[in-house]
Amino acid sequence: MDDLVALCKRRGFLFPSSEIYGGLNGFWDYGPLGVELKRNIREAWWHDMVTSHNELVAPPGAPAPYEMVGLDSTIIMHPQVWKCSGHYDLFHDYMVDCRESKKRYRYDQLQGRWVEAKGQRIFVATEAQGEEALQETEHKALRYFNLRSKQADQLHWDGPLVPLTTVADFSQVLGPDAKTLGTLTEPREFNLMFKTYIGALGGEESVAFLRPETAQGIFVNFKNVLDSTRVRVPFGIAQMGKSFRNEITPRNFTFRSREFEQMEIEFFCHPSTSRAWYEYWRQRRYQWYLDLGLAGERLRLRDHSPEELSHYSCGTADIEYAFPFLGPGEFGELEGIAHRGDFDLRSHMEGKLVRQGNEFVVQRDGDGKPRYRGSGKDLTYFDEVTRERYIPHVIEPSAGADRAALAFLCEAYCEDLAPDEHGVPTPRVVLKLHPRLAPFKAAVFPLVRKDGMPEIAREIYAALKPCFPVFYDEKGAVGRRYRRQDEAGTPFCITVDGQTLVDGTVTIRDRDTLRQWRVKKEDCGQEIARHLK
Ligand code: GAP
Repeated sequence: MDDLVALCKRRGFLFPSSEIYGGLNGFWDYGPLGVELKRNIREAWWHDMVTSHNELVAPPGAPAPYEMVGLDSTIIMHPQVWKCSGHYDLFHDYMVDCRESKKRYRYDQLQGRWVEAKGQRIFVATEAQGEEALQETEHKALRYFNLRSKQADQLHWDGPLVPLTTVADFSQVLGPDAKTLGTLTEPREFNLMFKTYIGALGGEESVAFLRPETAQGIFVNFKNVLDSTRVRVPFGIAQMGKSFRNEITPRNFTFRSREFEQMEIEFFCHPSTSRAWYEYWRQRRYQWYLDLGLAGERLRLRDHSPEELSHYSCGTADIEYAFPFLGPGEFGELEGIAHRGDFDLRSHMEGKLVRQGNEFVVQRDGDGKPRYRGSGKDLTYFDEVTRERYIPHVIEPSAGADRAALAFLCEAYCEDLAPDEHGVPTPRVVLKLHPRLAPFKAAVFPLVRKDGMPEIAREIYAALKPCFPVFYDEKGAVGRRYRRQDEAGTPFCITVDGQTLVDGTVTIRDRDTLRQWRVKKEDCGQEIARHLK
């Protein structure tokens, strides 16, 4: 992971935000290559889910043909949106503070081990995961009990790593950055929405929130989309854009950021077919990542257990990736596909809902009035053919563009051997990004800066530039230029050499196989385009 982070900085994929002022925890900037990678991910998603979707035929696995449209709603919305959606009351994490180190931790992200030595039993907590967590807890226990490494056999471990949430009494807990016991506070709630104020006056009247998800913008525009287009259920509305969460412990590079981009679909269908649509989207979205190059064994589709399901959900599956910063066997979420029933449209119609037995009912205050009033607008759907009126069910595939970018980078990062200009195998770093995602599709080089080679290379570059992103480079040894493009993930390099002057052909080099072949210089655009599919 450290090597990948270094590459991202060195080659301009990702920088810490405001780095010259020391950075800002949980915020990241995309550099010249990173911005192209993320744009390609977003465009692949929009193209595959929205613009290239053919609404006249049912795609493989879909219960029926369906329509897809897009939306771009605002980041700041009416505060009532978040009250009715449940985010105002429920969107929080529990956190614990350390009185000694003054650090704050997410309660559900701390784990540790019980250990006994010198007649005392304590719980050693850590933020680390996997093997690192085992090493760190041992190191901390030795320090706490004033033992040397060679006395490690005096530590009697009682069970494996378990979450801090299993510990009832914090007086026996040694915090992750503490030297004394019992410095962690009881868990406290912390709302994750960023608060802001609309207008010049400030004050509680003008409080608003930066959206923590793009989804609600879709629900509140459900009627607008129905009334302004000819879409009919089943159909989906797609939206991508920034979301903001005041995460307590942003970490693992961009994985948990405070500002990030989501790519979400709210798919509206008849309640009787919603299970089948859920199954379709689960598979459709999983296949999307596979098609773009995430390997089967590091990618998995995991169904939530009933205890894990959100308060509104009748079924949820996560698409997860085994990120290298996680411990062995651990996976991190890339995307969630949730069956949300009619929860969202009903909430925005009637007011904030709560579960009562097997049903959702409007939450009431002490006077019997709705705790948060809905819009009162009719968000039901009338089917002209069956003459049926109903509240559609929603299937929500909700992805993160930044997490996808991180997973694609992790998957693409390779170190191997490639022959240098003398044919000697030398180590190289290469990003084996899927050509659709690669920032540049090709690079054009003259072998040397003389004999008319730069002129021909520039002509090729000019001809390719309107077709796809290409990079031109004539400086330095050609071997070094190849290496730079390998690190940038450029799938093809086109080189103008001595033979070009003789027969008008150029070499094309494949980044992954290192195969080189010759084509006529005027055909190289077509040749590359053929391989980009
Ligand atoms: N509308 C449902 C929703 O927002 P979520 O699981 O909270 O569901 C969906 O978020 C996706 O957004 C996640 O699978 C992840 O890819 C991305 N995401 C969520 N929080 C994030 C964060 N702090 N940093 C980066 N990406 C995040």
